Parts: sequence; C-alpha cells; structure tokens
Amino acid sequence: MSIIPKEITRFSASIPLKLLEEFDKTASKLSYTRSKGIELAMRNFLTEYPQIQETTKLAGAITMVYEHSSKNLNRVLTKIQHQFREVISSTSHIHLDEASCLEIIAVKGEAKSIQYLSNKLMAVKGVKQLRIAKLVI
Ligand code: NI
Repeated sequence: MSIIPKEITRFSASIPLKLLEEFDKTASKLSYTRSKGIELAMRNFLTEYPQIQETTKLAGAITMVYEHSSKNLNRVLTKIQHQFREVISSTSHIHLDEASCLEIIAVKGEAKSIQYLSNKLMAVKGVKQLRIAKLVI
C-alpha cells in the first residue's frame, strides 16, 4: 500500500518521449527518482521566473534554440520581434547545425514587455528551449 502525504499530489503530463528518456537518464545519473527530478526542475522554473514589478526597467538577453526546418517558424519569430522592436536592441542568429538555430535577442525596457515577448516566443511551435537573463537597471 502506498501512502501519499496530504500535501503531495500526483499528476500526468504529455511530453515528447525522447525528452522523457533523456530526463530519466540524467535523473538516474544524479541518483534522483523521476519525482525528485521533476520537483527540482519545477523549483528551478519558479526561480527563473521571479515576480518582478511589471514596470521595473530591465536589460537582458533572451536566448533560444529552435528548429528552422519547421515551415513558417522563421516568419512567425521575425513577426513577433518586429512587434516588440521597442524593447529589442539587437538579435544575433547562429546556425548550429543543419536543423537548429540559436538566437540571442538583446532586450531593454519594462519587465512586462520583456516577459510578454519571451512568453510569445516560447509559445511558438518549434522553439525547443528558451532562457531569459533579466538584469535590473
Ligand atoms: Ni539558422
């Protein structure tokens, strides 16, 4: 019989199989159970997206990796960046391999706009990973 304390919960999620396999492999190397690894990843996620006042002035960089093979992806990403031109100082594009691109977007402006831009980019299908460095200025 498994006893689950009241403050612990179980949930299910749909994620790419390959990602789960890599996650389990890494968790195993660190002697973490899957639950422990997910808990750690969730805590890191929350640390990465702290509650900053919406009007706080920030400077920073959004770094993302995406698969450029996906049909409209470049167009969608460029369109979003044009919409946020007031907070984007520059964009560097690096072709990582045949399929993957790395983009580093330098940003400056209100936290609300930078976070909104970051959220929009991350929601685009084909964007595999996105990190944001926020520096309070
Ligand atoms: Ni490229």
